[in-house]
Amino acid sequence: MSEPRPLGHLLDESVLGEPVAASHATSEGYLLEAIDLHRRYGHNEVLRGVSFGVHRGDVKAVLGPSGSGKSTMLRCLALLEPVDRGEVRLEGKRIGVRESGGRLVPLSEATLARERSNIGMVFQRFNLFPHLTAVGNVMIGLTEVRGKSPTEARDIAKNMLDRVGLAERAKYFPGELSGGQQQRVAIARALVMNPKAMLFDEPTSALDPELVGGILSIMEELANEGMTMVVVTHEVGFARRVADRVIMMDGGLIIEDAPPTEFFESPQQERTRKFLEAVQ
Ligand SMILES: Nc1ncnc2c1ncn2[C@@H]1O[C@H](COP(=O)(O)OP(=O)(O)OP(=O)(O)O)[C@@H](O)[C@H]1O
Ligand SMILES: [Mg+2]
Repeated sequence: MSEPRPLGHLLDESVLGEPVAASHATSEGYLLEAIDLHRRYGHNEVLRGVSFGVHRGDVKAVLGPSGSGKSTMLRCLALLEPVDRGEVRLEGKRIGVRESGGRLVPLSEATLARERSNIGMVFQRFNLFPHLTAVGNVMIGLTEVRGKSPTEARDIAKNMLDRVGLAERAKYFPGELSGGQQQRVAIARALVMNPKAMLFDEPTSALDPELVGGILSIMEELANEGMTMVVVTHEVGFARRVADRVIMMDGGLIIEDAPPTEFFESPQQERTRKFLEAVQ
């Protein structure tokens, strides 16, 4: 595959056709916040009280062993999974539930879809619709959730595909694209919704090694443009270079949360030290 070309500005307002949302910082100043998240599957307590915040424009990298709850935590933040206890807040406002008569009740499907679209999610295995073309995958949220006309949605989607270096692949189906190309479609699909934050769950770990760099560059460029991001990754180099803070998860808890230099050079927890020795 040819080298990806420079992207220009992925978040250009005029292309997206929607104003960039203004920030209403919380008292702590977090754009996105997890507060005491708990989640269990049967007897398996997967999240045991996860709390952290991400400031607007910051990148948080998340490391941790398999099964420690990283994906579950991201799915809860993205409102793809309910929490048993705790809250997710975006711009200081609790999301995913609403209050009615002093009780928390589920949101309607339409409201939930709208809230979800504020948080973009990119998965390890792309999760594209196999029966839709690249442009079809990118535009579907615009027509279904944002109510845009197919013509307008298609224009916005094509522009975004161009920006991730896939203009000529707009009419290809996922099965006709490489892993790296599918992941670009997935990133474009999330970005056209003009999300306030982007969550990435090991976005490069299903890719052939030569395709990893291209996806990491797109992510780095997004970070440089000021996107707020939470990135579960094993790419230690990326975490060191791009993250403002790095989190270590173990057994459903955050056991370390520090700036990259401190995290990698002098971690406080023995568990983190052992983990880093194993992955580096
Ligand atoms: N839908 C589910 N139903 C039942 N158990 C689940 C479900 N999703 C996750 N789990 C369990 O929750 C635990 C944490 O899983 P999770 O996928 O969040 O871990 P992870 O840190 O992302 O691991 P990996 O690095 O392997 O991706 C595991 O024990 C897993 O088996
Ligand atoms: Mg996972």
